[in-house]
Amino acid sequence: MTARVIAIDGPAASGKSSTAAAVARELGASHLDSGALYRGLTLIALELGHDDPTEIRSAAERRGLILRHDGAEIVPFLDGRPAENLIRSDGVTAAVSRIAALAPLREWVNARLREAATAERILVLDGRDIGTAVFPDASLKVFLTATPEARARRRLAQRGEMFDSDSIRVEATALAARDASDASRTVAPLRRAPDAILIDTTNLSFKDQVDRIVAAARKALLA
Ligand code: CDP
Repeated sequence: MTARVIAIDGPAASGKSSTAAAVARELGASHLDSGALYRGLTLIALELGHDDPTEIRSAAERRGLILRHDGAEIVPFLDGRPAENLIRSDGVTAAVSRIAALAPLREWVNARLREAATAERILVLDGRDIGTAVFPDASLKVFLTATPEARARRRLAQRGEMFDSDSIRVEATALAARDASDASRTVAPLRRAPDAILIDTTNLSFKDQVDRIVAAARKALLA
């Protein structure tokens, strides 16, 4: 059996992961942030010092880059430990789009995601290509977006940093560069699935965006 999937895709810092986690809590479902696996592979690539997908994949297998439940969250472990802190570094963030464009690594991640789904009843998955490539038959597809400035503000606030108009501009430029790279790659580029609900969160409260998705998910799951 494979889970009923709620797919939440969208550009960087659009609030996918926190929204997906809250949606999963409301639905009594599990949540998996697919970007975390790409970040795990990127950490390995940076440690290896090259971008050879075969070697990165072997190192990921050898070092046990795996998904494990932490309550309702499904999170990556590396070397037997939670990888969360290691995969959020600036170095990983700067390199992840380049690594995520490598087709053999996308296949490896997709296999892990589909494997994880077999053990779930309802799985809320967020990423860039969940509704287009990984689970094209998802029960519900959402494309979450917001203006680059709103996304930059949120990312800086999330890091707990003080910010002004200059730092917002610098962050918005970095996010736009990552989006351009994710949207222009040949394999599974970032794009809205034709049947995805578009939600622009620029002027929505967190609660509003979660409520909208939960309502749509409840309806979809009944169908
Ligand atoms: O949280 P943030 O918006 O910074 O990004 P993320 O979800 O952690 O994803 C990091 C990177 O992984 C993205 O910029 C993409 O290059 C890649 N990714 C992807 O290609 N496909 C996915 N399904 C998820 C992430």
